[in-house]
Amino acid sequence: MKIRDVLLSNYGKASSIPSAVNQMMTDFAVGFRDGIDINLGVGYVNENTIPRKLIQNAYEAILANPEKYRASLNYGGAQGSPNLIKSIKTFLINNQIDGITQDTFSQRDVVIGANGATSLLESITHLLPTGIVVTADPMYYIYSNDLERKDFTVIAIPEDNEGLQTDLLREKLNALGSEKEDIQFFYVVTVNNPSCTILSNHRKKTIVEIVTQLSYEVGRKIPLFFDNAYSDLVHDNTVEQLKPAFLYDEIGIVYEIGTLSKIIAPGLRIGYLIGPKGAFLNSIIQRTSDIGFSAPLINQEIASYLLDNEIEAQIQKVNNEYRRKALQVKTWIHELLSENLQECRGGSAGFYYYLTLANTKTDTTSDFFKYLTRTTGNEEIDGPKGKPHPKVIYIPGEHCAHPSGEMVDIGKRQLRISYGFEELPQIHAALKHMKDAIGYCNQKM
Ligand SMILES: Cc1ncc(COP(=O)(O)O)c(C=O)c1O
Repeated sequence: MKIRDVLLSNYGKASSIPSAVNQMMTDFAVGFRDGIDINLGVGYVNENTIPRKLIQNAYEAILANPEKYRASLNYGGAQGSPNLIKSIKTFLINNQIDGITQDTFSQRDVVIGANGATSLLESITHLLPTGIVVTADPMYYIYSNDLERKDFTVIAIPEDNEGLQTDLLREKLNALGSEKEDIQFFYVVTVNNPSCTILSNHRKKTIVEIVTQLSYEVGRKIPLFFDNAYSDLVHDNTVEQLKPAFLYDEIGIVYEIGTLSKIIAPGLRIGYLIGPKGAFLNSIIQRTSDIGFSAPLINQEIASYLLDNEIEAQIQKVNNEYRRKALQVKTWIHELLSENLQECRGGSAGFYYYLTLANTKTDTTSDFFKYLTRTTGNEEIDGPKGKPHPKVIYIPGEHCAHPSGEMVDIGKRQLRISYGFEELPQIHAALKHMKDAIGYCNQKM
C-alpha cells in the first residue's frame, strides 16, 4: 500500500531544505583540513578570548556557595536567574553607558533567553503576527532567513557608513501607503552583521522617532528591536560612545537584545532582552518556558559571577585582541587586494570586514568562489584529486543582500570575511589566495 510522507507545515517544508549558507558551511565542513583549509566564513569568536580559567573558577565558586547560587544544577525560572538579571542591570549601569541608571529598570525588565540571543529573536517570530519586518541591507542573513521561512516579508533598507539610511526609510514607508499597517516590527543590528557598520547615535535616534511616529499613525505600538550583539566590541576608541536607544523612546517601543557570546563565550548560550514591562515581555517569558524552561541555570550563574567579578578586564582583553587583528588585517587587505577593492567596511567594531570588489563576482557560482573552494575543475588550480590545495571560505554578499532590494547587484561582488576565529598567519594566507583568485578571474575575462 502506498503511504504519503510526513505532512509538513509550511514552516516545516521551508525548513526541510537547509538554508543556502548552512548548505555551504556543511559542504565546506565535510573534509575541512585543520592547518590547511582556512575558514573566514564562520562567526566563531577567537578561542583565545574565551576565559577558560575564569569560567572554571566561577563554576567552583558557584557550587561552593549554594546559599547565593541556589540549586544551580536544577531547573531555573523562565525569566532567568535572579542573580544574572541583577548582574546584567549592574553591568549596564556600571559600564558607563550614558543614560542607563537604576531608573531605566523601573519601567523595564530583563529576560534571559533559552539559548542565547538567537532564541529570543526566534521567539519574537512566534509571538508577533506575521507581516512585514523592516531591517537594514545588507541584513543579518541568519535571522532574515528564519523570518522568511515563517512567511514574514522582510523589507531591507540600504545602509551607508552610519547604518540604516533614515531618508530612504522614510521614502519606503511613504511608498508603502496603506501597507504600512502590515508592519509588525523593526529589527536593527547596532554593529551590523555582515558589515560591522556602527549605527550612529544620530541615526538611532531618528529611527526611534520614525517608528514612534509610525506607531501613532497606525494606532498601535510597533516594536523596535535593537540587536546589540557586537556593541561591547567597539575596539576603535575614536568612535563616539554608543548610546542606548531607550534614551530616545517616549512611548515604550524600544527593546534591546544583548549577548555574552562575544565577550565571554558563545558556549554559555546567554542572551538577554531588555524592554518595557507588559504583555509582550510576559509572552517572551512564557515562550522560554515552552521551549526548555530557561537557559541552563549553571551557565546563567557562571555568567552572573563573571559579570560581578572580572568583566571589565575581560572586555578589555577581548577588545585588545580584536583591535590588533583588525589593524593588521586591514593593512593586508589594502596591500593585497587594493587594485580590485571598491570599498571596505568594518574594522572599528566586531570582527568582520565587508568588502566590495570592483569587478569580480563573489557568489557561489563565480570563478572567485570556485578558485577558493578548489572546484574549478582545473587540476593546476584545484590541486590533485583527493588532496586539493588549501581552500578558503567566506560569506558571499549574495546571501546578505535582500534578493529584491537595491543591493542585489552589488551584493554579488561583496563578501564578508571574519578575522575572529582564524589566527593572523592563516588570515594572511587566505588573503593571498584571494588575490590569486582575482588574478584567475581577470585572466578568464
Ligand atoms: C547580529 C547577531 N545577533 C545575534 C547573534 C547570536 O547571538 P547568541 O550567540 O547570543 O545567540 C549573532 C551571532 O553571530 C549575531 O551576529
